[in-house]
Amino acid sequence: MKIGILTGGGDCPGLNAVIRAVVRKGIFTYGDEFIGFLEGWRGLIENMSTPVDLDVVGGILPRGGTILRTSRTNPSKRPDGIDRCLATLEKNQIDSLIAIGGDDTLSVAQKLYERGVKVVGVPKTIDNDLGGTDYTFGFDTACNIVCEALDRVHTTAEAHNRVMVVEVMGRDAGWIALYSGIAGGADVILIPERPFDVDKVAESIRQRHERGRYFSIVVVAEGAKFSSAEPGQGAPVLQDMGKDEFGHVKLGGIANILAREIEKRTGYETRAVVLGHIQRGGSPSAFDRVLATRYGLGAIDMVHRGDFGCMAALRANKIVSIRLVEAISRNRTVDDEMIQLIDGLMPRAEERATVPR
Ligand code: F6P
Repeated sequence: MKIGILTGGGDCPGLNAVIRAVVRKGIFTYGDEFIGFLEGWRGLIENMSTPVDLDVVGGILPRGGTILRTSRTNPSKRPDGIDRCLATLEKNQIDSLIAIGGDDTLSVAQKLYERGVKVVGVPKTIDNDLGGTDYTFGFDTACNIVCEALDRVHTTAEAHNRVMVVEVMGRDAGWIALYSGIAGGADVILIPERPFDVDKVAESIRQRHERGRYFSIVVVAEGAKFSSAEPGQGAPVLQDMGKDEFGHVKLGGIANILAREIEKRTGYETRAVVLGHIQRGGSPSAFDRVLATRYGLGAIDMVHRGDFGCMAALRANKIVSIRLVEAISRNRTVDDEMIQLIDGLMPRAEERATVPR
């Protein structure tokens, strides 16, 4: 079979591990041939491709980023975008396509499937918020990076008697903040799922310091929201008003605002740290290498089983096939049971900073 493969959306440690697994099993087990389309859906719109064989995937397992590069190109927003994708697939005599991406990339995959393309999806996002699957690769690596950063922030916070507010990725879901905040021993964890009251955040820090501690660590997801009218008015904090082709605004900056408000209310010296794309860069963790490899092996088997319009998913530690529409129909946000993990570690309910949904 001649199979196209592409990576779309924000990059994520483990993308190369998926490509490698797909290509190795495809060649060794099924005798497939692979064409990589470059820069996500832009590669299909503009017919930018490269052959991918065993030599090309040699040595890429530990490499971050993606050898196929990526973009947030949305064919539906380009003149004749979907038709041009179809024309490229035909021109290159592609029998089936493996699209590795998050909900945006996979929503385009679904559109192509509806137009007759034999497509299989692989879930990707460090935010871990894709529906239908228990974990996406890249999330574990991101949490390890944040956890290490928190350990480092701890020692400098302790040395200076400071409050440190650490902003992590997490547009709609607070998985990174939750996992890394717990692993890194954060004193306050703020996630998009539960708007927070800045007065209560300040009060919980003040009480901690009254209990004899002289520093505090706050982890805040970039998509977290102030619950009160002040200062964010219940909306996420934006870097600017620009939107990408899938309609997403650029989040960022909540740590700076929060640090200022905490310092104003408590009088404690407070600093903001924004980890940004450091969370997405570099080598995948061992867990993510294995998970990405399992997804890749699952996806190539799905192609040969004819499971099109489907995505490889992890459910109860098994790789299974689910419909693409199931994955893209809703975000997997942090549920109440997981939120209770935060609450279980914090002081009494009346001192808690977040507002229950
Ligand atoms: O991939 C999701 C994500 O990591 C979000 O958490 C974040 O808002 C976004 O990517 C940032 O992406 P970009 O690379 O476009 O700045």
